Amino acid sequence: MKAIRGAFLDFLYDPFYKDEQEAVRYLTDGILVIDGEKIADFGSYEELGDKYSDVETTTYANRLIMPGFIDTHVHYPQTEMIAAFGEQLLEWLEKYTFPTELKFRDKAYARQVADRFLNMLLANGTTTAQVFTTTFPQSVDAFFEACSERNICMIAGLTGIDRPGLAPPEYLDTADTFYANSRDLIERWHLKGRNKYAITPRFALGSTREQLDRCGQLKGEYPDTWVNTHMSENHKEIAQVAEAFPEAKDYLNVYERAGIVGPKFTAGHAIHLSDDAYRRMSSSKSSISFCPASNLYLGSGLFMIHKAKSVETPVLVGVGTDMGAGDCFSILRVLNDAYKVAALQTQKLSVLKGLYLATLGGAKSLLLEDEIGSFDPGKFADIVVLNTRPTPALAFRAENAIIDESRPVEEQRRERMEHEAFGMMMLGDERAVEATYVSGNLLYQKLGNHIH
Ligand code: GUN
Ligand code: ZN
Repeated sequence: MKAIRGAFLDFLYDPFYKDEQEAVRYLTDGILVIDGEKIADFGSYEELGDKYSDVETTTYANRLIMPGFIDTHVHYPQTEMIAAFGEQLLEWLEKYTFPTELKFRDKAYARQVADRFLNMLLANGTTTAQVFTTTFPQSVDAFFEACSERNICMIAGLTGIDRPGLAPPEYLDTADTFYANSRDLIERWHLKGRNKYAITPRFALGSTREQLDRCGQLKGEYPDTWVNTHMSENHKEIAQVAEAFPEAKDYLNVYERAGIVGPKFTAGHAIHLSDDAYRRMSSSKSSISFCPASNLYLGSGLFMIHKAKSVETPVLVGVGTDMGAGDCFSILRVLNDAYKVAALQTQKLSVLKGLYLATLGGAKSLLLEDEIGSFDPGKFADIVVLNTRPTPALAFRAENAIIDESRPVEEQRRERMEHEAFGMMMLGDERAVEATYVSGNLLYQKLGNHIH
């Protein structure tokens, strides 16, 4: 057993639907007890300190300790092509993405990038992600091998694209090879250790009806797998999907007809949705990955977070970097963009709502809340230790916070924490990440090397 002591922040409820102060759990002096991979106990130091006085304890002073961040949509093979110049989605895929992803035919190369990618996620405080690979099964093997070495919880799957003309011929798969390779990979990796498999048609435009039907077949055969894809990201893409699938009433309906929509189905982006599509996403308990950095970078559009998190048609929402279309690995930077996307629609994304989306909200959107997303005992000890004042600008800002000192001390503390955490959400990035624990192991420490 071991323990961590310091200030802790996590969520008990969804602050979009409950009073924010009731939704959050903030302990100014707490202790988290770790037994092996999991959280054994959690509470205030005053209450639990004596009980665990013999346990080796690491104290983080002046830090904020949170559940590891969850990136619900990211592409590991795009690590090297982040920040490509000048194109919107379809041209960006053709000009930059497919030529890069072709390199992942080489398994040794794929493994090298998988290691780099995972180390960068850890340096950014991300401990779980839902990850796209390529059409090459060896790129999936390489990824899960790298994850297994770290005992880290990642969802990933073979990323199918079989529509002639949509990618270079040597990058395309077929409905049959996609099906056979997916089956093989599910048998090899799904629920082995902390690895989880997502059936991953790249996007409706890239798949023939046969390939999408094969996805439905796989979901029927392996009902506890995840399904991960893109949806309604870009206007030109949406128009071409309508042409390719004239029988479908909209983009979502292409996936509905394939039988893959429901719990554990994540649609990346979902920017341009009708009210009816929101209703169907809500009633089917599907989820959306909100990828504001990418949606701005590729000029795709402004996601309507207030519609997705409405009382009438609530949809499960997590946040995604969508790196390399997104221009960062940092979930904090994604929250900065999320705030501005909301602001452009006269909405306010509070720090607690933002941090919820990055932790428990992300876990719930992936139906992983029994395993990750908060500090409840029994969950895995996936933890990020944050410095809310990592830069001179943030330190100066924090020192000059205007706090109403006539209020009770506890309220002042919370106000100060929220002020600093909001500063970190808007100005922070990997510089704010001090340490990252995965399954109870310290896998990243600032200024040190990656440990694994
Ligand atoms: N749609 C199909 N493939 C991709 C991709 O790699 N990135 C993004 N952002 N959208 C896609
Ligand atoms: Zn994507």
